[in-house]
Amino acid sequence: MKILVTGGTGYIGSHTVVELQKQGFDVIIVDNLSNSSAAVVERITMITGIKPQLEIFDLCEAEKTFRLIEEHREIAAVIHFAAFKSVGESVQHPLKYYRNNLLSTISLLESMKRNGVKHLAFSSSCTVYGQPDELPVTEQTPLKRAESPYGNTKKIMEDIISDTVKTADVTAISLRYFNPIGAHESALIGEAPSGIPDNLVPYITQTAAGIRPFLRVFGKDYDTPDGTPIRDYLHVVDLAKAHVIALKRMLDGKCKDRFEIFNLGTGAGYSVMDIIHSFERVSGLKLNYQVAPRRPGDIVKIWADPSYANRKLGWKAEKTLDDMMRSAWAWEQACLHSSQTV
Ligand code: UD1
Repeated sequence: MKILVTGGTGYIGSHTVVELQKQGFDVIIVDNLSNSSAAVVERITMITGIKPQLEIFDLCEAEKTFRLIEEHREIAAVIHFAAFKSVGESVQHPLKYYRNNLLSTISLLESMKRNGVKHLAFSSSCTVYGQPDELPVTEQTPLKRAESPYGNTKKIMEDIISDTVKTADVTAISLRYFNPIGAHESALIGEAPSGIPDNLVPYITQTAAGIRPFLRVFGKDYDTPDGTPIRDYLHVVDLAKAHVIALKRMLDGKCKDRFEIFNLGTGAGYSVMDIIHSFERVSGLKLNYQVAPRRPGDIVKIWADPSYANRKLGWKAEKTLDDMMRSAWAWEQACLHSSQTV
């Protein structure tokens, strides 16, 4: 059975392609390589022994998207990762984000509808909850105004999908991730930000590797036990596995509604200092960091109630924080020693 994975050379996409192949699915990746490299396909092949097909184009090009799906009649479902994802950049360039993230999703849905592709797993984010009034966050937690254009595109993309499934013979599952970190155990794929990382963990590992002089801890005066913000970090391979389970749920006709939502997290909240301490524990290194002013748009604390996903999907994040940081560090070291950048 063929699965189309948009953004399949990206961080979460590539780990999901590996898990799909391990479960016997045939994968076609479509990616415009705007924030990833075609070399990822070789890395996936090294892990699984199977080379996924890679189509390089922009999903916003509706005609190309339509033709790809038309030419591959055996595509049973789509997993849609492709999107811009930098919160800060989205504040600077909102139209770039609205254009890319929304048009690509519309183009994809139209092509699926016209070609009779019936299932979509969507890469959503806990960012749609904003700063919730109550923690942990369940799927019923009211959505707040998005803190950034990026977050708003995720919210609008969910709306576009949920409106579309009402009018088409399509089921969709939106997976709202908390903070994915870590890398594949092979250290052949991982998070590979181009330029200066926005996210905490690649910034930590690049600092330890000597690529960055020090980490800036954005604010130590928050209303949390150690003053730094709290997130629910989960291992990217645990997250990738959830996509395969969600896909099977749709293919097996087990969805209760045409549009379902699941929170994917561990249920545990860790602060920025917890992450630094875990890194120091597993690497045996001392991390150079300095306390800096708060980062605009950051929320104080958020973590998931993953019990609905645990019950309905039979999925549970298994890796510990130290596992996550160990794998992130192994990946950074592998990148340092590799001549090929991915
Ligand atoms: C945010 C979004 C998430 C989105 C992701 C994409 C929320 C709640 N989360 O994650 O949905 O997918 O962006 O990029 O909106 N930090 C530092 N120093 C650094 C970098 C980060 O102290 O150099 C701190 C941040 O202040 C934050 C924590 O580390 O408290 C995590 O930051 P980051 O990894 O960027 O993720 P989020 O902002 O939580």
